Amino acid sequence: MNLSTVYMSMKLRNPVIVGSCGLTSTPEKVKSCADAGAGAVILKSIFEEQIEAELGSLSDSGNWYPEASDYINSYGMENAVSNYLTLLENSRKLTDIPVIPSIHCFGKGNWIEYAKKLENAGASAIELNAFILPSDPRKKGRENENTILDIVTDIKSQTSIPVSVKIGRYFSSLSCFVKELDDCGVDGVILFNRFNRIDFDIDKLEVIGGSSFSSPGEMESVLRWVSMLSPVTACDIAATTGIHDGEAVIKFLLAGANAVQISSTLYKNGLGEIAKIHGFIADWMRKHNYNSIEEFQGKLSQNKTNNPAEYQRVQFMKTSVGAV
Ligand SMILES: Cc1cc2nc3c(=O)[nH]c(=O)nc-3n(C[C@H](O)[C@H](O)[C@H](O)COP(=O)(O)O)c2cc1C
Repeated sequence: MNLSTVYMSMKLRNPVIVGSCGLTSTPEKVKSCADAGAGAVILKSIFEEQIEAELGSLSDSGNWYPEASDYINSYGMENAVSNYLTLLENSRKLTDIPVIPSIHCFGKGNWIEYAKKLENAGASAIELNAFILPSDPRKKGRENENTILDIVTDIKSQTSIPVSVKIGRYFSSLSCFVKELDDCGVDGVILFNRFNRIDFDIDKLEVIGGSSFSSPGEMESVLRWVSMLSPVTACDIAATTGIHDGEAVIKFLLAGANAVQISSTLYKNGLGEIAKIHGFIADWMRKHNYNSIEEFQGKLSQNKTNNPAEYQRVQFMKTSVGAV
């Protein structure tokens, strides 16, 4: 069965990408992902602060989150940049699937020059994890959006490889913002970043960390957005968060995604899950007489209507009117 797909002009042997996480942090782990059948891998992110620390500009900037700076300084970030380039080069040597480095960033800075080095070291593309939680009450949404748009514009001007952006969902007009990313020439968007969960210990009266791993229920709102955005954006879409099995992958392909990025299920159940997902997709395609992903990709996207909001409203009315 042909499971190949095209993501950001790259032909992937299948749509299952291992998302940026500890499972892609060494060349040997990247090889294990490739051997398990991944269509591509996103390397564990390097942080903007790591690059700036090595460039010597970390302490000059007033923009850093203080705790992040402390962490970076205490962690001893020497050689982080050259180590990351070596990770990329060696991963490329060990595999022939696309290897995509990831930069975890939140603002413009000297680190942008680093994109060229990644390209020269053999990056198939660059993924930017634009990690901006709009928590500052003095900052208008537009400022955060402009920060991301400026980063993308600069990186695109420095490189000739595809550039994608992994974003959160906290935008007042997500569709409009993704369209603006399109206009900046972005090649792919990854929907959505999963911000660390918080929880409360009600006996100790403490804030505690929630689970680092997603649960399948978290994919529902991602599915909504992928199906709404895929018909109206020129760039490709990779879905992430809560995708734990083959059925979920098929749903995202039907919604119009080009690929999915998975991590939690691989941590919980092992890399063997990738082959299980392939098997499920192939069986489903056989059952429905599809020979390629292209034949059904986007079939359930919301391209039937110009106004998905109206569709949503009617659905809501149908379920709420007369409800007991
Ligand atoms: C342990 C762990 C480490 C992660 N590290 C990164 C990272 O360095 N950069 C990044 O962009 N995403 C990181 N992620 C997020 C994943 O790439 C992915 O987007 C997220 O976990 C949602 O996918 P899932 O539901 O399949 O886990 C990490 C996730 C986990 C579980």
